[in-house]
Amino acid sequence: MERTRIGIIGLGIMGSSYAKIYSAHPLAEVVAVSALRQDQIDKVRSLYGVANGYLDYRQMLERKDLDAVVVATPDKYHFEPARAVLESGKHALVEKPFTTSTAEADELIRISKRVGKTIQVAFNHRWLGPYHQTKKSIESGEIGAPLAGYARKNDTIFVSSEYITWAGETTSAWFLSAHDIDLMRWFLASEPVEARAWGRKEVLAAKGIPTYDIIQAQVKFASGAFITFESAWVYPNTFPSMVDSFMEIIGTAGHIHLDRKCESMEISTAKAFSYPKLFLNTEIFGRMRGAFPACLEDFLYAVREGTEPQVTGADGRQVTAVLEAIHRSLETGASEMIPPPPPEIGARYARG
Ligand SMILES: NC(=O)c1ccc[n+]([C@@H]2O[C@H](COP(=O)([O-])OP(=O)(O)OC[C@H]3O[C@@H](n4cnc5c(N)ncnc54)[C@H](O)[C@@H]3O)[C@@H](O)[C@H]2O)c1
Repeated sequence: MERTRIGIIGLGIMGSSYAKIYSAHPLAEVVAVSALRQDQIDKVRSLYGVANGYLDYRQMLERKDLDAVVVATPDKYHFEPARAVLESGKHALVEKPFTTSTAEADELIRISKRVGKTIQVAFNHRWLGPYHQTKKSIESGEIGAPLAGYARKNDTIFVSSEYITWAGETTSAWFLSAHDIDLMRWFLASEPVEARAWGRKEVLAAKGIPTYDIIQAQVKFASGAFITFESAWVYPNTFPSMVDSFMEIIGTAGHIHLDRKCESMEISTAKAFSYPKLFLNTEIFGRMRGAFPACLEDFLYAVREGTEPQVTGADGRQVTAVLEAIHRSLETGASEMIPPPPPEIGARYARG
């Protein structure tokens, strides 16, 4: 069977993981990679046997032997590479958040329609068993109509001050709540209409990283449900996991709690007490398994079979619209409306 020929833009934490997974997948071949740093290109090429490396992704996109390209650049820098990928006639798998403006998201969706190429946004949490079950339980009416909910994704300060080098160019909400906003919209099957947010800049600002320590936002959906999204990245590094993740949905006839702070395992050693992260991307019998590899595999199926991906550009666009309203609200101190997508893109779920 012919392999889908993949290119990757951005070879940091996520991009190198894409290279590892796709280079081992029987339906894929990583033909070329690109990053701003030569050492990252050399490392990925030698680890995963990738034949071609580029410092300029535009040169990589001139290749005729690429079917699809991953965009794994920092949050603010998805738009230009994703536009170039689509304009060069290739399918695009774009890391979350899809874009950091809805106008950019709309433009990417219009280009994908014009050139007939697929966009999938890598909201990989949709591939986690418990989240998938939550979707099914709510859809079946098991907990009645969702009334309200809460979603927290809080990282240790290691993430904002060491793990990523560009925290000052994004916010905890773009980086963390993006996942939860996508999940809640999917669970509720309802479009967001209004947002009000509060944030604090103390700890990271004092360290010279100009971004929020914590953001809390309430988002109202067309169904009437309201959800609180919390994202922080200033927990002390003594916290036993890099991320404290919790979701709750309260319905008219039941509730669901999803506590992913501990992913089944706790371990204490002479050095530390920790909750190892095992559900998203972990090596099992020599292969990467979990929600992230599953998300990557389904992208292959979508482009090979010409089917709609599980998370479309329009889904990613709606998450961006919520985040844009949250950040407008942080500036204005007022409640901000979330306008519907333009008619040619269309809302997936009811808006009233
Ligand atoms: N889905 C998840 O669970 C998850 C987890 C972490 C990060 N992410 C997302 O993945 C994306 C990448 O994050 P990361 O942690 O791998 O970042 P990183 O800093 O480790 O890597 C970024 C890469 O992009 C390249 N790059 C930077 N600016 C560029 C530009 N303007 N043009 C081309 N290349 C550029 C860098 O050279 C580097 O190779 C982010 O959007 C982030 O939010 C997703």
